[in-house]
Formats: sequence, C-alpha cells, structure tokens
Amino acid sequence: MAVRLGIPTVRDASAQEAAAALARRAAGAPTSGGLVDTFGRLGSDLRISLTDKCNLRCTYCMPAEGMQWMPQSSLLTPAEVRRLVSIAVSDLGVRELRLTGGEPLVRPDLEDIISGVRADHPRLPISITTNAVGLDRRAADLVSAGLDRINVSLDTVDAETYREMARRDRLAPVLRGIDAAWRAGLRPVKVNAVLMRGVNDDQADELLAFCLERGLELRFIEQMPLDGDHGWTRDGMVTAVEIRERIGSRWRLEPDDVPRDGAPAQRWIVRDPDSDVRLGRVGIIASVTEPFCGDCTRTRLTAEGRIRTCLFSHEEFDLLSLLRAGHSDAELAQVWRQATWLKPAAHGMDAPGLGGADYVQPDRSMSAIGG
Ligand code: 5AD
Ligand code: SF4
Repeated sequence: MAVRLGIPTVRDASAQEAAAALARRAAGAPTSGGLVDTFGRLGSDLRISLTDKCNLRCTYCMPAEGMQWMPQSSLLTPAEVRRLVSIAVSDLGVRELRLTGGEPLVRPDLEDIISGVRADHPRLPISITTNAVGLDRRAADLVSAGLDRINVSLDTVDAETYREMARRDRLAPVLRGIDAAWRAGLRPVKVNAVLMRGVNDDQADELLAFCLERGLELRFIEQMPLDGDHGWTRDGMVTAVEIRERIGSRWRLEPDDVPRDGAPAQRWIVRDPDSDVRLGRVGIIASVTEPFCGDCTRTRLTAEGRIRTCLFSHEEFDLLSLLRAGHSDAELAQVWRQATWLKPAAHGMDAPGLGGADYVQPDRSMSAIGG
C-alpha cells in the first residue's frame, strides 16, 4: 500500500521514515541535476517563508484572531537558510530567491539572513515580499545586506479601506516604507494588490494612478481561496477580465511584448488615452481564471523548512529535520528532487463550481505557506 505523506503523517513519523517513504513514491526521480517534475517543469525560482507571523491581518489571508504560531525553535535559522539556499543554487540549479512570510520584516535577523546568502552568491537575485510596515527604518540596511528587489502588498491608498482590509490602521507607515525602498535604490518597486468586491474594487483606478505617478509597478492578483477564514467565493473574486476592463476604460492598455519567462503576470503598457504618452506598466495575475501551473518554475520552503512544491499542495516534506539530523548536502538535495518529482500538475481552482471541482483548500492559510 502506498504510504500517504500528508502533513499530519509527516508530523507523526520520524523525518527518516518520511524520507524513506518519499524515496519509494518518487522512485523515478532523477539523482542528479535540477528540480524537475513528472510534467517536465523545472523549479528554478526558490521562495522561502521566514515566518508565519504578520503584524497585519488582511482579510483575504488571515483570520482576525486565533492564529497558532509556529514555535520559534522550528523556524529556519539564518545559518539554515544559508545552507539550504546553497544546496538549491549549487546542486539544484535554482537561479532566484524570494523571501516571504507571513511578514519577513517581522524577523529582526532578516538583514543577517540576506547578507549570509549574499556572501555565498554574489549574483543571485534576492527579493522580498513584504507589507512594508517598518520598512522605512530598514530599507537602507536591507540593501546594504544585499537585497535587490521588493514587492510590497498594498491594496488601497485610502486609509479607511486599508484599515478595513488589513484590520490595522497602517497605511501611513506603509507609504513611508515604499518611499524608503525607492530612496534606497530598490528597482523596480512592485506593488501587489488584491481586489475584493464591494471593498476596494472601485479603487483600482486610484491605486494604479498612485503607482504610475511614482514609478511603482502595480500587479493585480486575483484573490485565491487561501484565506484563513475560508470565506473565498467565486463571485466575490474580481477576475482578471474585469480588472482589465475597469482600468482599460480609463487608460489605453497595450500588451507588453517582454517575454513572460515563467512569470505569472500578464503585463500591459499603460498609455494616456488622449496623448498616447506611456505612463508605465501594469500586471494582472489571473491565478484562478487563467492558471499558469504549466509554466510554474517555483519551489517553496515553509518557515519550518518543509518543501512545498505548490501553494495549493496538501503535502509537505520535512527537509529541515533531515538537515538538523545531520544529513549531507547531497542527501538533502536528493530529497528535494524527490519531493519535486511529485509536484501536482495543477491546482484545480479553475474547474467549474465553487473553487473548482478538484479544488480542496489547503489547511494552511497564505500567511503560513508563504506568498
Ligand atoms: N489571494 C491572492 N493573493 C494573496 N496574497 C495573500 N493572500 C492572498 C490570496 N488569498 C498576496 C498578498 C501578498 C502576497 C504575499 O500574497 O497580497 O502580496
Ligand atoms: Fe500579513 Fe501579507 Fe497576510 Fe496581509 S497578506 S496578513 S500583510 S501575510
């Protein structure tokens, strides 16, 4: 009988047993080279969540209260992040690193984590996804540590709507954080926005105008069913088509020819409808209605050092326990290859019906998985 390596099983079984079960299930996995799966995709873009904690409570991500945080001792340390990134880059062909959360700035040692990785990999692109709370005080140090790029989550520039969506009154510090990132020389500064019907969907124009004026690259992301409250509905989701129509009625949108290269955003050049002057760019990420699973280049580690091949996986593979148990780089790399081999084809959210006929929402919310 096949052993199911669901999340609870991994917790119960020892990491060694889980690794043995994984090896049996992934018997066809390659024993050298990069992170390939049975559908021929190559994982070259590594995302590491550094914490499940956050200082906001965005409604599409976390419940208002009652989060159970991961124990501090189970989180990746700076040295562990450094070692795992080295395995990923040197043995597995990873070419890009994004640090996420929860909120990565919640970790006081974020600068140390980045400078450690940077010391080993002078040219690896390193980025963070952040809500920018407190970034005004840290942007310059993060850049000195080796940070290259930043994505800031900002769904509205209206203070009251911000408070409603993030359940915290933090718009002003976030805007200061964005300014600081710009002044520290981070380019591009990308902004991620989720539109929620009846909440901020009437503010898409205002947000895009704000970003265009400041040279920020805005990307709208369709709301995915990953919220802690399990409140996502298909009707509540503002689709990519709607977003395109909405902003297309104010600006002229021209498809951007730059190759997408595995990047999920459909990009548009934004032009003034009267003068045709180019004002900037906007991206729309149709994660639900036009999924890009077939081009996925991501591989993920949770804050507890578990491999998660997809945001929507129901399985995780405990790499950190193996690392802590003394396994070699080569052994850890092989577990990573095996876990990747089992990466599912697609998330199933796009099938008809609520959240897609094949779609089952993962137990963990976005903040615990890492965006
Ligand atoms: N759907 C879409 N995007 C989400 N994010 C968080 N939760 C969701 C969701 N349910 C985004 C945030 C942030 C990034 C980490 O993920 O906007 O930019
Ligand atoms: Fe925090 Fe990001 Fe989730 Fe908002 S979306 S609660 S900022 S982790």
